Amino acid sequence: MISVSYLKSIYNKKDTIKKIDESIADMIHVDLMDGLYVENKNFTIDEVIDDLKDTIKPLDIHLMVNNPEIYIDELAKLKPFAITFHLDSTNKKDDVINQIKDYNIKVGIAINPDENISILDGYLELIDYVLVMSVVPGKGGQPFIKDVLDKIKQLENKNILIGIDGGINSESITYLKNYKIDNIISGSFVCMSDDYNMKIGELKERA
Ligand code: DX5
Ligand code: ZN
Repeated sequence: MISVSYLKSIYNKKDTIKKIDESIADMIHVDLMDGLYVENKNFTIDEVIDDLKDTIKPLDIHLMVNNPEIYIDELAKLKPFAITFHLDSTNKKDDVINQIKDYNIKVGIAINPDENISILDGYLELIDYVLVMSVVPGKGGQPFIKDVLDKIKQLENKNILIGIDGGINSESITYLKNYKIDNIISGSFVCMSDDYNMKIGELKERA
């Protein structure tokens, strides 16, 4: 699957979301940043709900916020495919997992480039999805960190969905060829162009 993040685009947010929704992308990747867990702040929860309430494609929500537990009930209204959070963003990790599960939404944990998959010990059995960050979370348009591919190898036999997020373009996607990855997220490579389908098509061809 190719999911597209609308964090960085040449179009305004509404138009970008519409263009992704009408494209050949498989999912819309929703990055939410609060200016606390990461330096940048982008949207309020009300904006996210309003922006995405009428979209058709499945939503892959990525929370880069402190205390993700306070966002889940609202986000569940969008009936997303998955909600992913960072373990170090909350001390209510089990509550967050259960809260998401109770809505029948897939639960994801994101691993930062400087984190090892051992942080998932005790959680892997409880979740559906691991999002391996191939950039430091916080902004779009950063270069792909190749070292994180080792973590994909370590996760491949764990019977869990695997995503990779950050720095994916027509070149870096070729590095993923021999890996089992369910969800490849690309942002600026697609949204900084005026032909989303051409860019997504290029990714699909080269994956
Ligand atoms: C990074 C975000 C990514 C990012 C992807 O903080 O989680 O989803 O927007 O965008 P590109 O492809 O530009 O790295
Ligand atoms: Zn993301």
